[in-house]
Amino acid sequence: METITQTAYEAHVNPQWVRLLNLLDMNAEYEVCRGEKLHTRDGRTILDFLSGYCVYNAGHNHPRIIEALRTELESDGPSMLQSHVAASAGKLAEKLCSRAGGRLRKAYFANSGSEGVETAIKFSRATTGRDGLLAARNAFHGLTCGALSLMDHRFWSEGFGSALPGVSFVDFGDSDALERELSSRKYAALILEPIQGEGGIVLPPDGYLQRAQTLCQKYGTLFVLDEVQTGLYRTGTFLASHHFGLDPDMVILAKALSGGLVPVGAVLMTDQVYDNVYSSLKRAIVHTSTYSENSLAMRAGLSTIEVLEQEGLGERALTLGESFREALRRALAEYEMVAEVRGLGFFNGIVFGQPRSLGLRLSFEAFRRIHPAMFGQVVVMRMFREHRILTQICGNNFMVLKAVPPLNGSEGSLDQFVIAIGQVMEVVHSSKSFWQDALQLAARAVKI
Ligand SMILES: Cc1ncc(COP(=O)(O)O)c(C=O)c1O
Repeated sequence: METITQTAYEAHVNPQWVRLLNLLDMNAEYEVCRGEKLHTRDGRTILDFLSGYCVYNAGHNHPRIIEALRTELESDGPSMLQSHVAASAGKLAEKLCSRAGGRLRKAYFANSGSEGVETAIKFSRATTGRDGLLAARNAFHGLTCGALSLMDHRFWSEGFGSALPGVSFVDFGDSDALERELSSRKYAALILEPIQGEGGIVLPPDGYLQRAQTLCQKYGTLFVLDEVQTGLYRTGTFLASHHFGLDPDMVILAKALSGGLVPVGAVLMTDQVYDNVYSSLKRAIVHTSTYSENSLAMRAGLSTIEVLEQEGLGERALTLGESFREALRRALAEYEMVAEVRGLGFFNGIVFGQPRSLGLRLSFEAFRRIHPAMFGQVVVMRMFREHRILTQICGNNFMVLKAVPPLNGSEGSLDQFVIAIGQVMEVVHSSKSFWQDALQLAARAVKI
């Protein structure tokens, strides 16, 4: 594959990113993207099984969302006057709250998932009068200072100075540890992803989230769910928390909410939370953001929900996701390095395990010493180069490969993914070429 140098980007944005993509042989120039298909300038069609980290639930450039945005742009209306009541924000908030259900009756609109998390931090402090925050190990909540403070993985925080004070971590799934922490009554919020995404598509143990909610109620801590990746029907239901019958105090959404076309975020909250933050006329704008409620994001949000629902993409993800995982399990059953296929809806991970046989173990260990992500990254490279499938390993768990296509990805594309990962695993287990690839990658990393 030809290496492309995007000169202005390299000079003025992030040259290290260009180097990394070149190193991985993944620097393609995408020209037209529709549904799950990415067409490149050099004539390839690549299947998207990453979905921009769960942005493209409705697929790339859905024509109805594009049309809604065109209409909005051509209306010459007030986009973000900051001096008016944004009716479309009201409509979107109403839709989101009605879909989310429970006690969630108000929405604050942000511009990203991280900004949503920042909002949840501030609002839980305002509601409880406490400072402490409790999060799960291996979580991913975003890279602004507050959100970053809720992440224990050193890779993301190293070199960026002190985290917020008062943050503690518990293992995801350990409800006894949760009770020990919560009983101190110092925490404003427990913030969890209902299914950990970057942690490795980790489903909660049975009853864990329900117990977490009960414990939060018992000890006066707000129960906050980060559904930035899992929301908007990614797992089959509007929120992943609907699978578990939860009634959180706040839910954070972003990514898929605007069809991947306009930055957006939303924090859904109870009236109690709202009343504690915006408690008087004087505090009507105590927490806001310039582009919050902008008409393009709101219009995109309304249209995205309509598309997801009218096309039945939640139910589709639920049923096809199940058969997709079954097909993956069948195709990968004989490979000792595949430990598990897990997920819900179209939020899936293929979990690699340490090989047992001596030959494989030696190669695997050697690779791991070069870099812990090396094995997964070579799988990603092969999927891209040989099978034209875009995917990635999880940010906090390099031994899990994502399989998260747009919710309207065709059955043919799902089949192609199953065949492709089967063939890559066959090469891993039967030929030296996979491991040679990794050595070449390591050698190139030194040179580039
Ligand atoms: C679960 C979760 N929360 C929050 C964020 C942060 O979102 P953003 O990148 O839009 O700030 C992410 C980003 O990947 C995420 O996966």
